[in-house]
Amino acid sequence: MPHLLTVSRAARLVGVSRGTLQQRIKDGDLTTFEGHIVADDLLRLYPETRLHDQKELDRVEHIKETAFAKRVRERVLPDAETLAARVQALGIELARVRAVASYYAGAIEELRDKVKSMNSVGDSSRLREVLKEIDAIRPPPPDSEHGLMARDSLLRIMAAQVVIRGTGHEFFVEGTDTLLDSGLRSGLSLDYGCSDGRCGKCKARVVSGRTKAVRQTGYTLTPKELAEGVVLMCANTAVTDVTLEAEEALTADVISAQSADARVKAVTVPATGVTQLHLQTSPDTRLRYLAGQEFTLHFPRGGSMKLPAAGCPCDERNLYFQARDLPQLEPADVVQVSGPRGHFILDAGSTRPIIFIANEEGFAPIKALIEHAMALDVAPFLHLFWIAPQGAHYLNNLCRAWTDSLDQFHYHELTSDKELLKVVRESVPRFEGCDVYLAGPNAWTQSWRTQFQLNGVPVTQLHAQQRK
Ligand code: FES
Repeated sequence: MPHLLTVSRAARLVGVSRGTLQQRIKDGDLTTFEGHIVADDLLRLYPETRLHDQKELDRVEHIKETAFAKRVRERVLPDAETLAARVQALGIELARVRAVASYYAGAIEELRDKVKSMNSVGDSSRLREVLKEIDAIRPPPPDSEHGLMARDSLLRIMAAQVVIRGTGHEFFVEGTDTLLDSGLRSGLSLDYGCSDGRCGKCKARVVSGRTKAVRQTGYTLTPKELAEGVVLMCANTAVTDVTLEAEEALTADVISAQSADARVKAVTVPATGVTQLHLQTSPDTRLRYLAGQEFTLHFPRGGSMKLPAAGCPCDERNLYFQARDLPQLEPADVVQVSGPRGHFILDAGSTRPIIFIANEEGFAPIKALIEHAMALDVAPFLHLFWIAPQGAHYLNNLCRAWTDSLDQFHYHELTSDKELLKVVRESVPRFEGCDVYLAGPNAWTQSWRTQFQLNGVPVTQLHAQQRK
């Protein structure tokens, strides 16, 4: 029986992005069986996989953590109960596979005896051949597939996989992280409110698998909900692989307006005139938004500004903004943040490659979209074209770090848009098949939107930032 792997697990095992594997499936290099990949086929395509290199297993995850400049989390081990449950699940699977193997071994033995007895009576040459074939049957030698399976078993002990029924979105839960935190960190827009067990907005039904409460809650589920397997995602972790029925925001309209106070964590000036602001909400508050959307910031000494968030919504309580002419702010100042607004967001249903084009500080929402696309890991490749005067690419180091770390990310630093179409055409063959995101002054994004449309990019794949 072939060993089948989900696309997410297969990508993790060979150290490539999920988007890359999906592209190989689309190109016909890899076949799927009911959405799963056969381990043997995977190894044929990636023979260089270093099966015993544990570091490689964590490579993509580590890159995401560091490239987002987020707090690098300790690799937290699952607790003893979770580990025991995962080992038990693997033990049950091993016992089942052993039972099947022993059944076939017995059947072969029986067949061999039967053929032997027939051979002694009939002595036909065909029977002798069949006997030889049966004698030649030996257990396969240890090979790379066994290595892959061993690695898969380790992965299954360390992290449980969650699949959302309906959208088919997948993510991994490590340690005793909650379902909500793990899902958000993977770029999913799961429904939630308070994020600490008070509001009940993160309810989800466990269709299969086992979850476990990791925090006390102030919200009480009804007996009916409990009987149906409903859990609060912000208070439960996955013990085994799990399938959930959970609500996700796939459009901007379903996210309601919110308002929260956020403290200034840091104010930096990465380039002359551009300020980067890092805000953090209180431990029990998290603003829900989609990458690319904007907020209104009300400053402590008066005045307000509408700015797009420059970070991924998966980055917990942290909010980042970049702008020229920000008023003077001190560490620990409190800024009131309200929103979100806007429809400049990733196309949730697309698995196409993506071209991001930023004009100067248009980089802010583009950075959020890139981080979101990296967290989702479904685009086969990402190209960033950033147009700004010489020396004004204020986060050049970050863009270069992404390029160095991620095979599927390509950065193009431009000082003018004069040759933009030519550069895009030369850098991205078949760019008409990509999603294109444009951010900058409204007149500029509209003009380039038209240019790309005239050059073959369907209007449904063109997304231009519209600042109010
Ligand atoms: S988000 Fe409020 S209870 Fe989970």
